[in-house]
Amino acid sequence: MWENPRAWWVTNLGEPEAALRLGSAVDAPPGARQARVEVCAIGLNHADLLVCSGRYQERPPLPFVPGFEASGRIVEVGSGADLEPGQRVVVVPELPAGALAETLTVDSSQLYPVPDEMPFEVAAVLHVAYQTAHFALHHRGGVRPGESVLISGAAGGVGAAALQLGRLAGVRCIALATGATRAAACRQLGADEVVDLAEIGAPHDADDPLVERIRELTGGRGADVVIDIVGGSLGERLRRCVGFEGRMVVVGFSGGRIGSFPANHVLLRNYSVVGLYLSRYRRENPDLLASVHSELVAQWSRGALEPPVQRVMRFEEAPASLALLARREVVGRVVLRTRSNREPSRCPSTERWT
Ligand SMILES: NC(=O)c1ccc[n+]([C@@H]2O[C@H](COP(=O)([O-])OP(=O)(O)OC[C@H]3O[C@@H](n4cnc5c(N)ncnc54)[C@H](OP(=O)(O)O)[C@@H]3O)[C@@H](O)[C@H]2O)c1
Repeated sequence: MWENPRAWWVTNLGEPEAALRLGSAVDAPPGARQARVEVCAIGLNHADLLVCSGRYQERPPLPFVPGFEASGRIVEVGSGADLEPGQRVVVVPELPAGALAETLTVDSSQLYPVPDEMPFEVAAVLHVAYQTAHFALHHRGGVRPGESVLISGAAGGVGAAALQLGRLAGVRCIALATGATRAAACRQLGADEVVDLAEIGAPHDADDPLVERIRELTGGRGADVVIDIVGGSLGERLRRCVGFEGRMVVVGFSGGRIGSFPANHVLLRNYSVVGLYLSRYRRENPDLLASVHSELVAQWSRGALEPPVQRVMRFEEAPASLALLARREVVGRVVLRTRSNREPSRCPSTERWT
């Protein structure tokens, strides 16, 4: 462990390059049922952009350290924690002491074990997007093999995870992405059908070429499940793509605006709108999170799941890495590697997705 571990602090709300300052990390000894973790890799998420600019549902007082997930090695264990120094873990810290730090002291309930063979860069992206996608598909969306699932923002973190997990669940995945590069990435990620939004015209009164295209792709029926990650005006178009007795899972608003659902449309078209907020499960059903984690690790161990880490950048490049995400230049995920990570980068997906 470095003597002076560092962290990225949000000192003023704004875009990451203006908001973040490198300073000292809070380096606390672990209390009862806690552990101190030397952070080796950090997975960046869209929510980091939101929290830096004060647009996230949680607004910690300034200054705070953003970041929702990391991976590393336990270096010290408090009393009553059933953990061992040296163990590799995924860390899901809580704001205001987020993951953009070289050391984290957290409760043992915020740690998930990972096998020795799993690279830190992979472990760092195994929680937020994959758990969200898993809960959206199964726990909230109730997908059954053979059903069709329409996924917006499919080339992003949660979307890519939903495509991969949808394929593993035996569902037919229809991906929405903007531009040829992102559409091609969705095909590589396993989408059965891809709709490039850049090639789809705008809606005109009751006619919407997007709705028509989805109906064509689903034999006129509409999608059984829609996982809406983008929200806003796209989300409002997507509700017209849900089939009879379908489910629309509201996951995010990366498009920047929260959409709305007219109750008469839900009634007349016999579909359900369900929400998903992953963080609530930490309090309400932590066992379910742990069991999904074990399933994800098992899928990775048998080679069925390869998280699409497009870029691995240095801890010191956090603001620039987040700026790439904000410009929609990342396919899948971007990960930061800290100076504690002395292992050679073993992240096969970076070459494929560059
Ligand atoms: N409900 C939950 O518990 C939960 C958990 C995790 C994340 N989320 C939310 O899910 C959303 C996606 O997160 P993520 O980490 O997957 O994000 P991401 O990697 O940045 O992907 C977002 C996707 O949204 C699309 N998009 C459309 N308009 C956009 C815009 N104006 N700016 C940025 N992206 C836009 C982009 O696809 P194209 O460029 O191809 O259109 C991009 O692939 C966020 O709103 C996040 O807060 C919710």
